[in-house]
Amino acid sequence: MKRKTLTQFLIEQQREAGTLQPQLRLLIEVVARSCKAISHSISKGALGDVLGSLDSENVQGEVQKKLDVIANEMLLEANEWGGHLAAMASEEMETIHLVPNRYPQGEYLLLFDPIDGSSNIDVDLSVGTIFSVLRAPKRVEAQDVTEADFLQKGECQVAAGYAVYGPQTILVLTLGAGVHEFTLDREVGSWVMTDTNMMIPMGKREFAINMSNARQWSPEVTRFINDRIAGDAGDLGVDYNMRWTGSMVADVHRILKRGGVFLYPRDARKAGKVGKLRLMYEGNPMAMLIEQAGGAATDGETRIMIIEPSALHQRVGVIMGDPTEVEAATGPNSN
Ligand code: AHG
Ligand code: MN
Ligand code: MN
Repeated sequence: MKRKTLTQFLIEQQREAGTLQPQLRLLIEVVARSCKAISHSISKGALGDVLGSLDSENVQGEVQKKLDVIANEMLLEANEWGGHLAAMASEEMETIHLVPNRYPQGEYLLLFDPIDGSSNIDVDLSVGTIFSVLRAPKRVEAQDVTEADFLQKGECQVAAGYAVYGPQTILVLTLGAGVHEFTLDREVGSWVMTDTNMMIPMGKREFAINMSNARQWSPEVTRFINDRIAGDAGDLGVDYNMRWTGSMVADVHRILKRGGVFLYPRDARKAGKVGKLRLMYEGNPMAMLIEQAGGAATDGETRIMIIEPSALHQRVGVIMGDPTEVEAATGPNSN
């Protein structure tokens, strides 16, 4: 069977569906190319001197891994000059990065988590890159783009996706009409479509949560998890399984392919009870993909995609996956 490449898919979207603007097509191609380069760096491991931590911390006070910085630089450099972007924002940078004025300015804003699951890099477990695409406000020149222009709710995203650097390197993408998976053919160097119009398998009994935070959870999440641990000896009368890699991108990808629910809920470890994950780089893009695949995504009360962001690095509780499970963990009131 002759499989479609990412380039073919994007050209078809542009021609036939007429839904894909040329600048957005270029943007996706460039991000995909960056993910290829990041995958290459990661796969060298100790031989490429890319493992370990730096002395630096990012804006959130987290120690930066060498690969956090390498991947961030790769995404910035690749996306600066194509004329498709006005500015970028990253989990690893305190504020936004404007496209230098020696290059043409584009219509879009790109946000990314260059390496999700950094703590897994040095032990050879799956990590990934997550990205989100917004429209730049029409009125502005790039120099005028501000952080406030990025504070758009998840529903405003025009595209979202992620790469997983695991046993295979894959790219999962939505342009707002379905979710599609591409696998990197390393010999040829192209992304080849391996799944299309992906839908989360429903009714699967598997959950993903960091159990070491149990004492910090809300009563709803505690009850939900306790019921599932009780399994066939409890009220549910059926056993559940648990998986947790510590890379959201890999855990959510598994849910997309195999079903179940992912939780990194708000918890009580800090005043204000916000979660660990970041709304703009993790919550929103993953919520868009999950919803496009028939799933649900809430912060425990509110649908993630309608949260009005108030800060670039804002954190959010995340419960996403099979809608029945999401509702069981939160109650039916999420809108
Ligand atoms: P990042 O590597 O971008 O900082 O994100 C890591 C996130 C997420 O991928 C994962 O679900 C979570 O942190 C795990 O954190 P803990 O091990 O602290 O629970
Ligand atoms: Mn992350
Ligand atoms: Mn990260």
